[in-house]
Amino acid sequence: MHEDVAEVLLSASAIQAKVGELGQQITRDYQGKDLGLICILKGALIFMADLIRHIELPVTVDFMAISSYGAGTKSSGVVRILKDLDHPIEGRHILIVEDIIDSGLTLRYLIENLRSRRPASLRVCTLLDKPARRVVECNIDYNGFQIPDRFVVGYGLDYNERYRNLPYIGVLKPEVYQRELQVGQR
Ligand code: IMP
Ligand code: MG
Repeated sequence: MHEDVAEVLLSASAIQAKVGELGQQITRDYQGKDLGLICILKGALIFMADLIRHIELPVTVDFMAISSYGAGTKSSGVVRILKDLDHPIEGRHILIVEDIIDSGLTLRYLIENLRSRRPASLRVCTLLDKPARRVVECNIDYNGFQIPDRFVVGYGLDYNERYRNLPYIGVLKPEVYQRELQVGQR
């Protein structure tokens, strides 16, 4: 375990098993359909990479990078597109692949934005869901795990751009946040 991690919430093997199940479910649901996956960077990068290898359909992948204004561990709801899709989605069956739905504000923005491009259908697949923090209602079609109201890192999720490479999902030790505060004050 990484020295900054206090607790592992989801082991690498638990995540792998769930990703396999989600891939099978998506494979069944989209038989005969033209499916395009949209990975929301950067948090969903690892999830997407594993998930597509469990989808036995001729899918395409595209990427969108967004940032919600405001640093730290809370989303502000004001979303900015840093990188847009490379290809149009009109008339195609589109599945958004997210790392975590927290307040739901980012997802609401994404859904409104993508719906205006007239896909044939638009669904959401997230690895993690933190329902306790929801500010706006969200319809999640494929959900890996519901987790408690704790800030988590690993398997793509970061704290200040670190820890994305951990193969599990964990919670950081409190002193990691203290350390960052001290660095910020210098
Ligand atoms: P929302 O708009 O509040 O739903 O925020 C969603 C985004 O905030 C996610 O895509 C993550 O990038 C980030 N986020 C929310 N909770 C966590 C967490 O526990 N760890 C790391 N990033 C998080
Ligand atoms: Mg994210």
